[in-house]
Amino acid sequence: MKNNKKSTIGQPGALTETQLIEQVIRVNQAGEYGAKRIYAGQMAVLKNSPSYKTIKHMAKQEEEHLEYFSSEIVKRHVRPTALMPLWHVAGFAMGAITAMLGEKAAMACTVAVEEVIDEHYREQIAVLGENEAKLKEKIEKFRKEEEEHKNIGLENNAEDTIGYPILRGAVGAATKLAIFLSKRV
Ligand SMILES: [Fe+2]
Ligand SMILES: [Fe+2]
Repeated sequence: MKNNKKSTIGQPGALTETQLIEQVIRVNQAGEYGAKRIYAGQMAVLKNSPSYKTIKHMAKQEEEHLEYFSSEIVKRHVRPTALMPLWHVAGFAMGAITAMLGEKAAMACTVAVEEVIDEHYREQIAVLGENEAKLKEKIEKFRKEEEEHKNIGLENNAEDTIGYPILRGAVGAATKLAIFLSKRV
């Protein structure tokens, strides 16, 4: 399978349709895996806290999202990102570190990640054609669930985290970097 390393979804026409779809599936599998690992890190730290159940609910949805993209990787013979081992460690670390800062910080992490993912999925929905209706429909379903996660974070006082703007900025930037890399590597 060809892999165009110079282009992004934000530049329509730069990728062939096949390349675009492969990139979408590759980066989304990576992202959903990262999300699963973030929540695993948070759950490890917040085992006995009131937030545990809420985080578990979100983690379960991430598991479903991941399963879908992983099955598409197999079905369509798409090369997964080579960075999976990095997301395994970095995702867990991001979850665990934010959770160690407290339950609100864990929720702030979710808000910051999901803000970026919401935008990322919206961009994909905008560029995918009608012959990928099923894929588009799935991404839209997942996007709504990510939006739900963001709202759960806000309802659980993410914004009251000490240093919220800094944490949100850092986690958002890390998420964007992960997306950038997973599209290319
Ligand atoms: Fe997800
Ligand atoms: Fe999510």
